[in-house]
Amino acid sequence: MNDLQNKIAVVTGAGDGLGKQISLDLAQNGATVILVSRTEEKLKKLKEEIENAGGKADYYPCDVSQIEAVNDMAKKVLDKYQKVDILVNNAGVYFAGSFFDLNSEQAKKTIEVNTLGTIYCTRALVPSMKERNEGQILNVISVAGFEASGEYTLYTSSKFALVGFTEALRQELINTKVKISAIYPEGIRTNLFAGSGGQDVSKEAPNTLLDPKDVSEVAMFILKQAADINLSRIDIRKKIF
Ligand SMILES: NC(=O)c1ccc[n+]([C@@H]2O[C@H](COP(=O)([O-])OP(=O)(O)OC[C@H]3O[C@@H](n4cnc5c(N)ncnc54)[C@H](OP(=O)(O)O)[C@@H]3O)[C@@H](O)[C@H]2O)c1
Repeated sequence: MNDLQNKIAVVTGAGDGLGKQISLDLAQNGATVILVSRTEEKLKKLKEEIENAGGKADYYPCDVSQIEAVNDMAKKVLDKYQKVDILVNNAGVYFAGSFFDLNSEQAKKTIEVNTLGTIYCTRALVPSMKERNEGQILNVISVAGFEASGEYTLYTSSKFALVGFTEALRQELINTKVKISAIYPEGIRTNLFAGSGGQDVSKEAPNTLLDPKDVSEVAMFILKQAADINLSRIDIRKKIF
């Protein structure tokens, strides 16, 4: 397996939850982590936390649903570091409630952040990987990417689209050394639900939720594989007994 020394890794949605854990673990494995999400204060604090632990980090506040902001972030990162080895497309939002109770703004935001955000970041950063013929993309999807539930219609739509994007892009990249993987976790103990403005499912059944650390370990396992091994998709479930 590879270690991640000297790798430059961009993580979106880095300020909280799973993205924060993945960023900490990438840094612990030797990567320089570029932290991306909207809230600068959280990114600044996380950069300090990583540096205090002896790691390397930088941050770029960016709304991944805004193409100009994404392109600007990508340009600044590539100008400064000359390369990106790893892109973790993790930023995501979820609005609780029935499809019929959610409004068009919430529908737009779900697709713009979860689906288009991933597409914009990939479009902005992966051409440089293709040029170098090296790099890895890890898309954080969800079991909602292939299992439909009546409770998450909009979220499910945004994640199903990401499955198609990920699978088709792997075919486009088939004759290159750029790898694309996806993880499909069940519920994770983060603030995704609490921040959704609706029912906080995480509080109702905390024992049924995955720990972000466990999910991040799977992400590290994928990212540390040898150059000729592409772990293309892994779903991660909490065993309840
Ligand atoms: N929690 C779960 O049960 C679960 C299960 C399966 C998959 N997932 C997926 O895991 C990923 C991480 O979610 P999480 O559970 O860690 O949620 P979280 O704790 O709410 O973190 C989401 C992160 O995304 C960032 N973000 C939101 N909108 C953004 C935007 N427009 N531009 C840039 N960053 C944005 C947030 O920061 P700012 O608000 O500061 O921008 C935050 O750092 C998501 O893709 C989610 O769909 C979660």
